[in-house]
Amino acid sequence: MTSEQDDTQGPGTDGRESGADEVVLDPWGSSSVGDYQSLFAEFGIEEFEDVLPGVPTPHYLMRRGVIFGHREYDRVAAAMRADEPFAALSGFMPTGDPHIGHKLVFDELIWHQNRGGDTYALIADLEAHSARGMTWVDIDKHARDYLLSLLALGFDPEAGHIYRQSTNRTVQDLAFALGSHANFSELQAIYGFDGETNVSHMQSVITQMADILYPQLDRPVPTVIPVGPDQDPHVRLARDLAARTRYFGVTEAYASFETDAGERTVLATAYEARDEYAADPAQPRCAEAADWLAEHRPASNGEVLDSAVTRLRNAGNEPLRPRVRVLDRNATEAAFSALIEAIEGEKRVYDAHVDAFDLDRDEVASLAREIEVEHDGFGFVPPSSIYHRFMTGLTGGKMSSSIPASHISLLDDPETGYDKVRAATTGGRETAELQRELGGRADECPVYELYAYLLAADDDTFATRVYEECVNGERLCGDCKEQAAELMRDFLADHQERREEVAAEFDVLEELIEGSRDVR
Ligand code: TRP
Ligand code: SF4
Repeated sequence: MTSEQDDTQGPGTDGRESGADEVVLDPWGSSSVGDYQSLFAEFGIEEFEDVLPGVPTPHYLMRRGVIFGHREYDRVAAAMRADEPFAALSGFMPTGDPHIGHKLVFDELIWHQNRGGDTYALIADLEAHSARGMTWVDIDKHARDYLLSLLALGFDPEAGHIYRQSTNRTVQDLAFALGSHANFSELQAIYGFDGETNVSHMQSVITQMADILYPQLDRPVPTVIPVGPDQDPHVRLARDLAARTRYFGVTEAYASFETDAGERTVLATAYEARDEYAADPAQPRCAEAADWLAEHRPASNGEVLDSAVTRLRNAGNEPLRPRVRVLDRNATEAAFSALIEAIEGEKRVYDAHVDAFDLDRDEVASLAREIEVEHDGFGFVPPSSIYHRFMTGLTGGKMSSSIPASHISLLDDPETGYDKVRAATTGGRETAELQRELGGRADECPVYELYAYLLAADDDTFATRVYEECVNGERLCGDCKEQAAELMRDFLADHQERREEVAAEFDVLEELIEGSRDVR
């Protein structure tokens, strides 16, 4: 459920406790977001704009802000720039016909594949069956339709990978392995599951976790998951699970005792200031740092400062000295010994951690990953994601598969596509005269969205021209819709022709669809 409430309605006036302006990301709710801005502040999704300059020849959906958010996409962009391996994966629930909203994700996958990414597309049949109650007959039919469109748009199945959740044994094994790092309370907190939630639905969630990490099974690589923001809860859980399975944790430390992140910041400040208080600045002592901190109280949370001071006092005469610490989280004994062995230079070994004095954090982190992988660990890189905006429905409101007039199916007859665009709501004014005087509202116009998201394709000049002409009042809605409707008709005709060609070309489809499950 993604809900946006009118904020003139104060808490309590509608009988609810609170909830004004609340945005909820629910993978099985409605696919609309009232306020994209709140996704940054509330959920920690980052703005795509910030990474855009680092993306080599960005896709038009990136350039036009349709892809608006991300988590750690910098990692993937950096791999692309350095010509290093990376992967891309997304999944599709075969619950209906593929439509122009799905095309965004198809295009994103294909773009990453063309940039050299190891690219995966999967059919989320377990999820469609368990969370949406789809029959297997319908699932098979829709799965085929999704894949045909994906291939027709340019996905290369020989270079990339296509699978369905139910028949990918490796994914199921990985799901089982990941499942031992997650529990019911957690799924309850993230997805609102309760005692009535069917167990297969939970299995489909853990399967999605396995989907997301599957590209890294052979070797850890930066991976991007292009999805709508409703899938962010899945991405966050996958990132958590990726971290939880890691053998080692790598942090900075300043002395032998354990600290949390806040305390470490305080210790860093004290270390930086050592010239001010240490009898021998080459070897500041913990007790000296404690005195200095207690006196100067540099800006920080008071409680954190106090606990850092206590820890320092307890350490007394021990030198305060920066180091990189590797914590043993899930490592086997052999892996932990191998890591100790591999650390060069001065090191100090403790029960469940080892401190390295001559290596920097990145060096230690990559060493730790290497050792983990050599010792049968996954070494997962936290998966990255990119998020696209949801298209507005052609009839206004949200685009919904259950309202045929609100969306254009990739299987719609070209004439039907034409008619739907002609009948669409616009951001135009009441009269042509007003439109000339005030200009249209392209930013609120579903027809303009069609141009920007699809019809103008890579042609930025064209997209900009439509926008400018609209807001300047030079463009009137009738002609504008006629032009869009014709382009849509052509697009659908081409796309469907291409679908027929690929249907004949690739038997991967038939293999995937037939002889799938033993139990239906
Ligand atoms: N849950 C996704 C949906 O609702 C489908 C999906 C399954 C998926 N596995 C995935 C998406 C892995 C991205 C990555 O459409
Ligand atoms: Fe929308 Fe085109 Fe009308 Fe502008 S002129 S409001 S873009 S239909």
